[in-house]
Amino acid sequence: MKKLIEQVLDEEKPPGMTPLFRAVNTEFALKLKNVFFKYEGVGPTGTQKDRISRLHVTLAKSRGYDTISVATCGNYGASVSYYASMSRMKSVVAIPSFYAGTRNAEIYENGSDIIVKNMKYEDLVDYMKGKSEAENWYNCSPSSDNSWVDIVGYRQIAYEIVQQLGHAPGYVAIPAGNGTTLAGVYSGFRKLYLAGETDSMPRFIGSSTSLGNPIVFSWKHGYRQIQILDSARIIETGINEPLVSFKAFDGQRALNAIYQSKGAAIAVDDQEMSKYARIIENTQGIKVLPASASALAAAHKYLRNRIYGKELVVVLTGRGHT
Ligand SMILES: Cc1ncc(COP(=O)(O)O)c(C=O)c1O
Repeated sequence: MKKLIEQVLDEEKPPGMTPLFRAVNTEFALKLKNVFFKYEGVGPTGTQKDRISRLHVTLAKSRGYDTISVATCGNYGASVSYYASMSRMKSVVAIPSFYAGTRNAEIYENGSDIIVKNMKYEDLVDYMKGKSEAENWYNCSPSSDNSWVDIVGYRQIAYEIVQQLGHAPGYVAIPAGNGTTLAGVYSGFRKLYLAGETDSMPRFIGSSTSLGNPIVFSWKHGYRQIQILDSARIIETGINEPLVSFKAFDGQRALNAIYQSKGAAIAVDDQEMSKYARIIENTQGIKVLPASASALAAAHKYLRNRIYGKELVVVLTGRGHT
């Protein structure tokens, strides 16, 4: 099956590539230098999730499933439902009831069944695991048997950056919720480095919400082992939904990547996320999700008083909604 996924990825090159461009006006506004944006908002549903949803749907079909299922804060569900509808597959999308539901209409229009449950996201992931097994659905939620596909899919971001830049950058900043995207991109750079395709590894800057995320919490307190937070103390908002969690399903991998690359994990609050999204819009003319602008906020906090030579690549994981 890994062969099939590699084949899909091969066919996607170069049209599947997302743009990488130098953000000169942002550099000027923030007094940073060598800033590049890797803009993941250009896919059909506007987030990096499009990379992995497409692969999951392909794999699910090839294995003979008629239904794909996912637990989501919204963005991943919109993406899975889009690719499922393109492949004429049924999809079931589960969303916590107290989430903003900004993408529910789109998911519904794609023909998905929506399950709304009064549960935390992490509990809903566990619920969907059981439900999918019982119903014989292909489950593409994090921590499922199929989640190796996520790492393979996100490695592609690293391959593209190296292809577009010509070498590995000095820093890569990525928003982290479960930490899957960050772990996958790190894995991509590591593969290239071990294969002798690049001569250095970037440092990873993970950004997340100040209102509850195990990756930034664990790094801040110096834990090598990813911590589980008190679920009663995390605060979900319409802005931090993609990033907030008490249990990060790929948190250990993301934390390892941050330590191994001698990077940092930095908490950003909602106001800062919105502020940096505005800065990106005003300086580069693109509207990004505030949660994805957290990567620029974190990189700015981390690098503003440092002297650095090689490029900073900020992965902007999603376009903003109008
Ligand atoms: C736009 C956006 N950025 C970042 C993330 C976080 O990604 P991950 O859970 O892989 O860390 C998400 C997850 O839903 C997202 O939707």
